[in-house]
This record gives sequence, structure tokens and C-alpha cells, in this order.
Amino acid sequence: MENKLTVKDAKVRDQIVLVRTDYNVPLAGGAVASDFRIRASLDTINYLRSKGAKKIILISHLGRPEGKKVKDLSLKPVALKLAELLPGVPVEFVDDVSGPDVEDAVSHLKKGGVLLLENLRFYPGEEKNSEDFIREIIDSTGATVFVQDGFAVIHRTHASTSAVSKHLPVYAGLLLEKEISSLEKVLAHPKKPLMLMLGGAKVDDKAPLIDAFRDKADAICVGGKIAADGAVQPGDKIYVAEDFDEDGEGNKLDCGPVSTARFVDTAKASKTVVWNGLLGKAEDVAFATASTIFLKTLGESPEIESIILGGDTTAFAEELAKEDSALHFSLLSTGGGAALEFLSGKSLPGLDAVENQ
Ligand code: 3PG
Repeated sequence: MENKLTVKDAKVRDQIVLVRTDYNVPLAGGAVASDFRIRASLDTINYLRSKGAKKIILISHLGRPEGKKVKDLSLKPVALKLAELLPGVPVEFVDDVSGPDVEDAVSHLKKGGVLLLENLRFYPGEEKNSEDFIREIIDSTGATVFVQDGFAVIHRTHASTSAVSKHLPVYAGLLLEKEISSLEKVLAHPKKPLMLMLGGAKVDDKAPLIDAFRDKADAICVGGKIAADGAVQPGDKIYVAEDFDEDGEGNKLDCGPVSTARFVDTAKASKTVVWNGLLGKAEDVAFATASTIFLKTLGESPEIESIILGGDTTAFAEELAKEDSALHFSLLSTGGGAALEFLSGKSLPGLDAVENQ
């Protein structure tokens, strides 16, 4: 991130700062089911407050409502969770993104307060990358500084990731900076040996990663459904799981002990491990063994730089880390698609929009 301006370069004192976060979080029964992405946004919010920002306006998407208001995809539950995570800070919510209600909410917000606007994707302008749409948000909030901290969404060309740079200089937030810096390190000068561990169900997502790591990595191991289905062929440096635990109907739902031992031995012989995709059907505890053993190996080995990517994989790691606070990971990435695209060498529109130094 050396060539990009970050929030530390911005003059934020007494300014209204618009921050793009990624609060695309799982909900259950109208409440936030995982606050991982919300907690990941707190560093930037706290930093802005500590530097005397006048008001902090947060914007995000949630789900894929396709330009329509969908009650179940309101960001209101996220505002409630934010208020819990920011005790003593005024946290408000308004059910629009521009216009009189937003102007009113901003003017009533206390100094140093935080206001979350409604789901950006309730409006077609967001996904159409409309300059007018984001201009209206900027005008209604009176924002003079824009911070991009939605790492997980920077692979999208949307108004709040791309068109915004037509109106305001875009600075990287602390989360964006942390994630990109860790991934850049893996790409440019990883501590070697470097292992890529892949799992999950969708081979289309993983193939570009295998291509990108074929020369760079010392070992590529493959588990999960993509291994069980034979979707990846073993080859030079590429080890594909060879034994599986099955259910009563013969479905291969987890990697077996031989493959798991091979994954663990390879990780222990590595200094950097990048992991994306669960190694079995881990939502079912009976088939979570390989993923659990592999995760614990990483979490209990501080000498291994461990980078964990993708919604399911990080959620699994988060759960285990809650149960065992001794587990340590170098980076639990908030980004699934964004991280995969970055590591596959694709350019990210939301990162391109950040001001160069
Ligand atoms: C994610 O969860 O990967 C991001 O929030 C992006 O969401 P999207 O795939 O709906 O654009």
C-alpha cells in the first residue's frame, strides 16, 4: 500500500467523513449473526474520532436486493450492533441514503458521532456505478473526505467504490490498508516455504488462484468438495486429498486421516500458509475434523504466517478462536471474492480509486 494515500494522510479534524464499510454480514431472526466485519471496521472509526473528525457517516451494502427496498436487508440491525461495540459513542441510523431525512439526521448528529445510512443496494445507482447517485449522498451528508474501508467489496465497480473518486479524493481506511498490505506481502516477498491450502466447493473460484500460485508456492494442497469431486488434478507441487470420510450413502464429506496428516505436515514445514475453502462439510460437526485439525495447526504455530480467506473459512476460524483464545492467525481476511481476485493478480476497481501518493 506504499503508493496509496491512507486515512493517516487525510485532514479529518472538524470534517464530515464518509466511510465505505462492508457490513454485508449474516443476519438471523432480524439480528446480526456474526459481527466479524463490524468489529473489523472499528479501528478506522476510532481513529477518525481520535483525530477530531466532526461526524462519521458510514455507508455499506447488505445482500443483493437489486435496487429495491427489501425490509429484511435493512442495515438497522447493524447500527444496533455498532452501538453495542462502541459504548459511549452516539450511533444513529437513518433509513435512506440521501435527501431531507439524511440531511436532518446529519445535522442532529452529535460531534464525534456515527451515522449509518441505509443499504446502498436498495438504489439502482449503486451497482450502476452512478456518479449522480454518490454525488447525492455526498451533498446530503456534507462530507468533505471519503475513506474506502470496505475491503470485501473493492472488486466491484460500484458508485461507492469507483464513481466516488470523481467527486472526492478517496483515502484507504485502516482495514483496507491492513488487508492489502498482508496480501501484497504474500505476493511480493512471502516467507518461504509458501503453502497454498484450498478447499470448498467451487472450483471456478480456485483455478485462478492455483494458476497465480503455481510458480510462487512451494506446495499446493487441495481438500474439500473440489478434491472429493476430482475437480483438481494432482501434479507438480499439487497434492490432492486421497482419502475421505463418508456418510452412510458413500458421499465423501471430509478429508480422511492420511490426507489431513499430509496437509498438517506440509503446513508445519512452511513459513507462510494461505488457506481458502473448508476441507470438508464443516457445518456438520461429524465432517469438520480435517478443517479443525488444520486450523488448530495454524493457530498454534505462531512461527507460521497464516492468511485465511473467504467467508466460510474465516467464519469457521472465528468460531474456533472464540472457544480457544490462544489460537493466533496472522490475518483473518474480511474479504472473500476481493481477496481471491487480488491474489489472482486482478486489478480491484475500489483500490484503483484510492488516491496515489
Ligand atoms: C462479500 O460478501 O463478498 C462482499 O460483501 C461482496 O458482496 P457481493 O458479492 O454481493 O458483491
